[in-house]
Amino acid sequence: MTGVADLRSLARRHGTPLFVVDHDVLRRNFAEFRRRLPRVQAYYAVKANPLPEVVRTLYEAGASFDVASIGEFRLVYENIRHLPPRRRQDFIWDKIIYANPIKDRSTLEELDRYRPLVTYDNLEEIRKIRCHAPHAGLALRIRVPNTGSMVELSSKFGCAPGEAADLIAAAFDAGLTVEGLCFHVGSQCTNFDNFVQALNMSARVLEESEGRGHRLRLLDIGGGFPAPYDGSTKRFRELARILNAEFRRLFPADLEIIAEPGRFMVATAAWLVAEVIGKADRDGKRCYYINDGIYHTYSGVLFDHCQYRIRAMRKGPEQLSAVFGPTCDALDTISQAEPLPDLRLGDLVYSANIGAYTHASATWFNGFPPAKVVHVNL
Ligand SMILES: Cc1ncc(COP(=O)(O)O)c(C=O)c1O
Repeated sequence: MTGVADLRSLARRHGTPLFVVDHDVLRRNFAEFRRRLPRVQAYYAVKANPLPEVVRTLYEAGASFDVASIGEFRLVYENIRHLPPRRRQDFIWDKIIYANPIKDRSTLEELDRYRPLVTYDNLEEIRKIRCHAPHAGLALRIRVPNTGSMVELSSKFGCAPGEAADLIAAAFDAGLTVEGLCFHVGSQCTNFDNFVQALNMSARVLEESEGRGHRLRLLDIGGGFPAPYDGSTKRFRELARILNAEFRRLFPADLEIIAEPGRFMVATAAWLVAEVIGKADRDGKRCYYINDGIYHTYSGVLFDHCQYRIRAMRKGPEQLSAVFGPTCDALDTISQAEPLPDLRLGDLVYSANIGAYTHASATWFNGFPPAKVVHVNL
């Protein structure tokens, strides 16, 4: 496990800002997911952290993959390019889902030759898939409660459960094959009732569809598995217990169950180390300027609604301080109230649990590049 002393020496060697990924933590998270949900095949949601080394480690650990763009598909494909054609095709069938309900035509055309599993949630998409990727298998995304999840997704995707059986029948009528159902309860879901409701809704849709002559073989329970950002986060272990009980209660043993965990796999596997580059007192408040910010690794504050603790490597009496990123934009405010000791220019600060939806959405805004990445225990 990477500790503060390791972060300090890595920063000395590589400079800052530095994004440190510990691959032992990735392997541990993946193993925990598999151990606690033995019935579920884990498709890592590449969007959470698409670094090729992260994808590689999870590939070697035996993960399957959720991709949501042709770029992500190609990233995973790099790991199977060397396989004999038959094994490569088997991998795509068994271990990749294209889980973006809206796909452009050129993406579908490129995907079609691999006959992948893709998601959909409306009639227009059925027409598009029939025309541009007729060999794809389908999974229908239904809308489920996202109540209390940190990132809400249900306003953008998912058909009403009441429409589901019609949309399944419509796809079969178009000559396509619907393999299963999928849903997403919202990211960092600590309201486990969302999962329970979604599973119950799915069971009803599967039953209704079977009654209309279409028995589906697969259920994709999406992402949303909470990362332990702080001691108060409800534990994955508790969620797993609830899920396993619901699986037994609601579904036949031959229903294939898969999931698309992103955050759970990578959030705790990375740290950001930055340096204090400026210091001022404004209206009586201590302000620090560091060399990473909202347009870079801390982009998760904005895009992911996630607040990361910023910790000092120096000890001392703390005062509530504002912490800003390096750009000229006032939006580049990481925190207005961070308990920090009196820091000097050149001091190092760090944030833990910053591996999900952070470096992935870093920009080059204002001429500042994304943080350098180092991998440990690769
Ligand atoms: C379709 C889909 N699957 C999986 C994920 C990953 O979710 P999480 O990181 O909450 O596990 C997302 C996140 O947006 C998603 O949109």
